[in-house]
Amino acid sequence: MTYNKKIDFLYNHFTSILDLEFDFKNKLNFVISQYFRNNKQLGSKDRKLLNILLYNYYRYSIYFNSMNDTSKFEIFLINFLMCKNVLILSDTFDYIINEFDIFVRENTDLLINCFKVFDHIAENIEEVNKLSFTTIYKSEIDYLSSELYSILNTKAPVSLRSIYLENDTISIENELKTLGIDFEKNELGLLDLNTLKNFDISLKSKNIDYEIQDNGSFLISRFVARLKANTILDACAGSGGKALAISYFDNTKSIDIYDKDSKRLSEFSNRSKGKHKNIRSLKKLDNNKFYDIVLIDAPCSGAGTIRRSPDKKYTITEAIIDEFSGLQRKVIHDYSKYVKDEGLLVYVTCSLFRKENIEVLNNFLNENRNFRPFEINDNFIDNYSLKISNFAKILIPIKYNGDIFFIAVLQKISEKKDKE
Ligand SMILES: C[S@@+](CC[C@H](N)C(=O)[O-])C[C@H]1O[C@@H](n2cnc3c(N)ncnc32)[C@H](O)[C@@H]1O
Repeated sequence: MTYNKKIDFLYNHFTSILDLEFDFKNKLNFVISQYFRNNKQLGSKDRKLLNILLYNYYRYSIYFNSMNDTSKFEIFLINFLMCKNVLILSDTFDYIINEFDIFVRENTDLLINCFKVFDHIAENIEEVNKLSFTTIYKSEIDYLSSELYSILNTKAPVSLRSIYLENDTISIENELKTLGIDFEKNELGLLDLNTLKNFDISLKSKNIDYEIQDNGSFLISRFVARLKANTILDACAGSGGKALAISYFDNTKSIDIYDKDSKRLSEFSNRSKGKHKNIRSLKKLDNNKFYDIVLIDAPCSGAGTIRRSPDKKYTITEAIIDEFSGLQRKVIHDYSKYVKDEGLLVYVTCSLFRKENIEVLNNFLNENRNFRPFEINDNFIDNYSLKISNFAKILIPIKYNGDIFFIAVLQKISEKKDKE
């Protein structure tokens, strides 16, 4: 083999990172960032490149590991070939594409097997995608739609919207054009970016306000905003992402936000910059206050965000799903008491596991006779989701480009009506 210094340098860092351990709490992106901090000799181009190579590797590593006759270095090269389509889109990577092409020319014998495997993958990509998921995912994907195998192995875009007004993306669009950043305004009105370029510093320096929001999360917020309600409690608000989006659609709704994690909740003020007078951040819930809607964007495994975090393929285990399922049963029970008579309880997760979704709701309905299913009648949501039951849907990114979300709606039965 003809030695290539740059390829060797990258391969060594690539394999060193593969040797690092990550798990559900110690996530892959933390582990990679930590590695980069400890290896300052890696420049920004190398770091970007390694990120792309590693994320693709983790999408397909189950498949790669099943290839018995292929060496680690060959897998590195095959993985590189799989990423080449993305790399050629940005001139940032010209340096390595050129180097790689020289390496290929000088090592044709070695590369023959790699190209064979690469061609096989390209010709059988649907099968390869399916083979690159663990059993626990497969049972859910087969239940939902086999189309998801390919989609969940692609990267979701970064989507931007204006902060306050639905039609106010024009200044963001103009700045992105000036920066030469490709984007597409999707049918929901968000700007989908498939870029590796930094846009945030430039937008901020020009005081252009924007929110990064996943398309699925946006759809959920739109749905909640259109339900009949004056008062909303967003009980697991994080730093207020959903509340801000609901408010974007309808700023006449009065929204109280709460999160057990007070540090996360405190970030809301930075996001809102005091401009959302209809949203109040609560340190403590008032047991005597009841709401038209209680939104529970429940803590979950986040399995539906696998397009952004392929490590979730490996770190989500049955035990983790069971742990979240237990927590979700507690959370829905605890916050259901804040729903007004005839009011709605909206339960959301970004998971695709039935144990975190419909099973939590069925269990709650069995234990709480004062709640009933509330039929979701919304053609807009229907267009983007699959029906799980008349009160529950799962948004799957076949017709929108984003993460998976589950949503279910229950209604509190009025005690008075119940007695009549
Ligand atoms: C899926 S995240 C919410 C994301 C947020 N709604 C958004 O749109 O950005 C779930 C949140 O639930 C919070 N949480 C977990 N257990 C909770 C509890 N018992 N009560 C309230 N919040 C809780 C977590 O701190 C986390 O911020």
